[in-house]
Amino acid sequence: MGRRNPQRFDFATILIDHESAQPLYRQLEDQLRDAILQGRIAPGERLPATRRLSGDLHVGRNTVSQSYERLIAEGYLQAEIGSGTRVSTELPETLLNRPQARKKKENKTQRDGALLSQRGKQMFEFGDWNQLGIKPPRPFRPHVPALDLFPRHIWQRLSERRLRRLSRDLWGTGDSQGYRPLRQAIADYLKISRGVNCCSDQILITAGAQQGLELVSRLLLDPGDTAWIEEPGYTPARLVFELNGARVVSIPVDEEGLIVSEGVRQKANARLAYITPGSHWPLGMTMSLSRRLELLNWAQHHSGWILEDDYNSEFRYDGRPLPSIQGLDQHESVLYMGTFSKVLFPGLRLGYLVIPAKLVNAFVGARWLADRHSPPFEQAVLTDFIEEGHFERHVRKMRTSYASRQAALSEAIRQNFGDEVHFSRTETGLQLVVYGANEKKEAKLRRSADQLEIEYHPVSFYASPGTNPAGMILGFAAFTEEQIENTIRSWAMNYLKRA
Ligand SMILES: Cc1ncc(COP(=O)(O)O)c(C=O)c1O
Repeated sequence: MGRRNPQRFDFATILIDHESAQPLYRQLEDQLRDAILQGRIAPGERLPATRRLSGDLHVGRNTVSQSYERLIAEGYLQAEIGSGTRVSTELPETLLNRPQARKKKENKTQRDGALLSQRGKQMFEFGDWNQLGIKPPRPFRPHVPALDLFPRHIWQRLSERRLRRLSRDLWGTGDSQGYRPLRQAIADYLKISRGVNCCSDQILITAGAQQGLELVSRLLLDPGDTAWIEEPGYTPARLVFELNGARVVSIPVDEEGLIVSEGVRQKANARLAYITPGSHWPLGMTMSLSRRLELLNWAQHHSGWILEDDYNSEFRYDGRPLPSIQGLDQHESVLYMGTFSKVLFPGLRLGYLVIPAKLVNAFVGARWLADRHSPPFEQAVLTDFIEEGHFERHVRKMRTSYASRQAALSEAIRQNFGDEVHFSRTETGLQLVVYGANEKKEAKLRRSADQLEIEYHPVSFYASPGTNPAGMILGFAAFTEEQIENTIRSWAMNYLKRA
């Protein structure tokens, strides 16, 4: 890699995920097309011979030929006898996006936006939702667990067994509150592992934590009510609250988590505090016991609700986890939320809320009105997975694997970037936040990552609008130690070359 001309596209940076459901030739084709459209492979530039690229990427020669042929058919590439395959000089997008066509498209887009409700317009103007997370992850996309280490064979075996004996209750309409045996399994797990004080009747199965946020904001917040969120904090929660008409007040955090006294100073009579105390998103620290008690005290004296998002509670590498805030609550003021997206796999779309008994009926109604219920079949397979001990084994195994992926990332950054960056390893979480040694260096770090298509989330995406805090969030969970080390090495080489 180091010998190649830095101006030219480095084909060895193409990432092929052999575990992905997307065929290998499609992964290669998509990445080549993106690189051409972004100008990273210039018009007229020659592509490597199929034999060489297949060797570099460890894929079959047919895979490469198939991708090339499809891009030739689409007009991105041209094959010339004797001189191999080159990028076309007139690209299809150049033809499609001539100013006239683009103008028409822009006008149409503005008209489409005007047709929407106020809430619809806010969503429309936020950005391009279609692009969210559907491409195969590249290092260091956050929020993605290690799909390569998930015991698919067990999941498959349990699914097949359930399919063979498919009972009537799994074919018909399900329970809007969730499959009862799954609620029981979750209640048992939460009591033991997180000190949550609940029974299965207080559990509502949701379509992931995101649906939990939507239901909570719809049922507990009126337009104009205030919700506290952490600063920085989980932006999708902010958007849900705001789109439901709430006012969001961002409360700073320190190494002990949300600074409750600051929340009280800014807006004591908020209706709800949304927090990630088990593992702060995105900085990774744990909320201290004294802050937890302070927050409960605020809730009791101001009749506020606490929404405790324990999305990542299973992954703690040092020390013992603190029990949940829900377990410390004496006044039914906490709603506890969890998800299987990180601990198992995000495509499952199953999560849960633990709600005070007095609210259960309203939540079940809201779920019924929203989308009836989650698919009973997946809930039944998940129940078996938990009841037969696979869940516990998987969590134990992943804790070790994530600890070593986290160590690989810390070590690679330290060795390759030295004093150019700083970061602190946290005892929880599937991400590290890295900062350039100063503003200029951080800008250079980002440019260099963008050039190599290294994925990261800027901390500023999770901060309140108008602020621009430093920091790059790097997810390590979905990548092997080798991928982590290679990517950091290439990144550092590219960065240092630009000195
Ligand atoms: C802090 C936090 N809460 C909630 C969620 C949503 O999880 P789900 O995929 O279950 O909707 C995420 C997902 O990344 C998250 O980071």
